[in-house]
Amino acid sequence: MIRVGALADIPVGEAIRVEADVPIAVFRVSTGGTDGADGAVYAIDDTCTHQKASLSDGWLDGCMVECPLHAACFDLRTGLPDGPPAKVPVRTHQVVVMDGMVYLKLAEHTGEPEVEVA
Ligand code: FES
Repeated sequence: MIRVGALADIPVGEAIRVEADVPIAVFRVSTGGTDGADGAVYAIDDTCTHQKASLSDGWLDGCMVECPLHAACFDLRTGLPDGPPAKVPVRTHQVVVMDGMVYLKLAEHTGEPEVEVA
């Protein structure tokens, strides 16, 4: 597992970038507190699958992040883009919060080409 840092150091509604074998974006979502997901932490590959913008620099809206370059939105729970220009999902990674610290279990690189979303 990769140690990210203290949960308290990731403000709700913000993201941080973690340098691993590939950069990882770690988000602490703000959902308004009505669905039990407020303050939940999600991790995805930081690099947009369209033209390599950093998704941790994007705009967070609930569990969706909007790419700062061409505005494709990715679901932090699934990695799926909601439409063009991005067609390929980003990888999602398992987040473990233990004793107030955030850790990541990175998804495997399969070596297979990613499946495009129609
Ligand atoms: S670089 Fe992300 S949508 Fe184009």
